[in-house]
Amino acid sequence: MSKEKELLIKARQSMKEKKEEVADDYYRLQYHIMPPAGLLNDPNGFIHFDGEYHLFHQLYPFDTTHGSKFWAHLKSTDLVNWQELPLALAPANPYESHGCYSGSAVDNDGTLTLIYTGNVKDEADNRETYQCLAVTEDGINFNKLGPVIKNQPTGYTRHFRDPKVWQKDGQWYMVIGTQTIDQEGRVLLFTSADLKEWELVGEVAGSNLGQLDDFGYMWECPDLFRLDDKEVLIAAPQGVAAEENLYNNIYQNGYLVGDLDYQTGQLEHNGFRELDQGFDFYASQTTLDEQGRRILLAWMGLPDQEEYYVERDNGWVHTLTIPRVLELGADNQVLQKPVSEMKKLRGAKEEYHNLKLQDEIIKLAGINGDVLELIAEFEIEDAAEFGVKLRCAADGSEETVITYDQETSELSFDRSNSGRGEDGVRRCEIDETEQLQLHFFMDTSSIELFVNDGKKVFTTRIYPQPSSQDIKFFAHSGAVKLNQVRKWEL
Ligand code: FRU
Repeated sequence: MSKEKELLIKARQSMKEKKEEVADDYYRLQYHIMPPAGLLNDPNGFIHFDGEYHLFHQLYPFDTTHGSKFWAHLKSTDLVNWQELPLALAPANPYESHGCYSGSAVDNDGTLTLIYTGNVKDEADNRETYQCLAVTEDGINFNKLGPVIKNQPTGYTRHFRDPKVWQKDGQWYMVIGTQTIDQEGRVLLFTSADLKEWELVGEVAGSNLGQLDDFGYMWECPDLFRLDDKEVLIAAPQGVAAEENLYNNIYQNGYLVGDLDYQTGQLEHNGFRELDQGFDFYASQTTLDEQGRRILLAWMGLPDQEEYYVERDNGWVHTLTIPRVLELGADNQVLQKPVSEMKKLRGAKEEYHNLKLQDEIIKLAGINGDVLELIAEFEIEDAAEFGVKLRCAADGSEETVITYDQETSELSFDRSNSGRGEDGVRRCEIDETEQLQLHFFMDTSSIELFVNDGKKVFTTRIYPQPSSQDIKFFAHSGAVKLNQVRKWEL
């Protein structure tokens, strides 16, 4: 039996053995993509191919640590109901012995083709990096074609990974994340006529290029695509210093908008903006679907802060975000909206209209729960602060608090009292507005909050007790109108 087959069987066996331990965990999510067991991280190979969405993700099936990664595989016709398929890639060959790392998928003249990084470490922990191809005829079994880029270019280290490939005017292009030998994060552009012979075009963007001073020692998981008449480069810089409300997570995931020169590879761009204001968001990847939508998914987690994610004690860890559609808004801001297919999950509905809160905190009958969609539309009056408390314990011992502060125009997301693993507040400024729409997708251990039609998003894991299910609305020092509250069970 081939080493690949042997590893795939072992992985399946190991996940099967952990099934019961995993299934008993309340924090298992109800409508998010999770590993059957083991550790999930980056979404990979996201593609709409032949009428079906294929999505892969990084997986270590044997344990909840970052071991040698496999690619897990799912498919869907609607982005909501996903079918788990057999694992796609196992780290079986010498050129990928320490992990089939992140990458992307393309339609190469009718053949679904994966491009990923083969990660290798020797006994002294020295790294090697290979960009590899794998193809499938039946959409389930993958044949590896081996490395097509065997070395990083001169001037860069072996932290050289996460190829995202696309086709333009019959030519293939790839962005890849790396660092210079002086430890400056970079994204490079390569080109190819056949996906096999690749040539370096140049540096797209990076730390100490353009206006990005001291902007990280490594950039991971790049993605580059056209949105309206601009190019958007998404990347995950590591080593960016926090600045007030910005860059508070251990690593960042954000974007630059500009114009790409395909001859030099250079992106003429504006400043870096974070994609998400929450605690748990990283390594996002997009695809263009057959309706022309640019759809993004991300890992709802981060590396190197494993102790926060308490489901590790139960044989699994991490989840992906729900899919979001990207649009280019005013001032070249990328807006993110939940895909409309999420409405398929809606169950029983409860709604209220034309309420007003005056120095009070209220509960509304039927507006509570743990797995739900909630839309609250506020009209700002003179309240100094107002907002929503979610997952409140009846005895007041737990709550997750979203507060708008009228004086600073800041929205804050406070999970310091959310349950197990207390940890801080994230804040962002909201553009001048009289309305505040808060659109929540809540799952057993996650909250995704879309603010004012996707102008800001907060994505966060929380670990409240299962019984903490109250929702409260509040206004301090004045009044606020609550024009609409709508809740659906999901
Ligand atoms: C990002 C990342 C990628 C790498 C993968 C390995 O989270 O570090 O750069 O390819 O995870 O699992």
